[in-house]
Amino acid sequence: MEKEDVIILAIETSCDETAAAVVRNGREVCSNIISSQIALHTVYGGVVPEIASRKHIEKINQVIEEALKSADVTLNDISAIAVTYGPGLVGALLVGVSTAKAISLAAGLPLIGVHHIEGHISANYIENKDLEPPFICLVVSGGHSHLVVVKDYGEYEILGRTRDDAAGEAFDKVARAIGLGYPGGPKIDKVSKEGNPDAIHFPRAKVVDSVYDFSFSGLKSAVLNYLNSCEMKGTPIVQADVAASFQKAVVDVLVEHSMSAVQEYGLKRFAIAGGVASNSCLREALARECNARGIEFFYPSPILCTDNAAMIGVAGYYEYCKGVRHGFDLNAHPNLRLGERA
Ligand code: KG4
Ligand code: ZN
Repeated sequence: MEKEDVIILAIETSCDETAAAVVRNGREVCSNIISSQIALHTVYGGVVPEIASRKHIEKINQVIEEALKSADVTLNDISAIAVTYGPGLVGALLVGVSTAKAISLAAGLPLIGVHHIEGHISANYIENKDLEPPFICLVVSGGHSHLVVVKDYGEYEILGRTRDDAAGEAFDKVARAIGLGYPGGPKIDKVSKEGNPDAIHFPRAKVVDSVYDFSFSGLKSAVLNYLNSCEMKGTPIVQADVAASFQKAVVDVLVEHSMSAVQEYGLKRFAIAGGVASNSCLREALARECNARGIEFFYPSPILCTDNAAMIGVAGYYEYCKGVRHGFDLNAHPNLRLGERA
């Protein structure tokens, strides 16, 4: 490590992954440790907040130590601590925030609170060294669906958001209904490869007063109604066809909104972020549509799409460069909005 390097130790505990990473100069990931609780929550069919918080407490120190060790650094090499402070589960966020504050105090290091969604967007900078704002980004995760213009580092214009369920939430709920279990996204993605996406026509929801807002709860209800009616008529349910048809309905809407935004704002770069961004059908469709329009398409590797701390380290670096510093009054903000600072 060079003396003038900016080395960020990042911590992420907003949901069900306990994660820590070391990031050098904003774009180089020196370590990225993720301890996933998925197996633990699977038994309950979804994330149980209280269990998530307890597990974070058990794992956090170990994960941070591993992140420092595998990056071959000590706290003496670190320039600042970045931590997700919202949005997310309050108890889960608090574990990361308290730990970051404790390290910051003990080691005398600057503290930077990072917005979780800003982290997801920033994951694109890791493998695409040339990517710089402005660009349009579709953020689709378990808790959020946003279409944003990334005007500059840390500066966003939100074009659309979901009015009800997030895209990932819809994947998870439909997966549960068709017996695939939790987490639904990757399972629907996999089983859809054997299904016919045109077998069942599910609605492509439009929000009347907004071109870019999303609504997925109607689609989820349409799937549940379809399953009920099959049951009542005694028609066999073809799981792969339901999965593929549902997935196609989500992907069509995400692609249509994204391409309208790209066209309206005349930007030549488009990126995706969040857990659902690792969906193979979505990636293929967006790659095809961007290619047809001469738009450069950026997407993180699947491991950087789902929750991780490397993305928080990248977003934290750009905040650090701008001079953003938080005090020890930094708190967890479960409903923090993108572009808002607390
Ligand atoms: O970004 P993330 O790890 O957590 C949140 O910030 O919410 O996203 C998790 C979500 C889950 O809903 C999961 O089902 C979904 O991302 N997901 C996928 C895929 N992989 C993860 N959805 C569709 N296809 C996938 N391959
Ligand atoms: Zn996330």
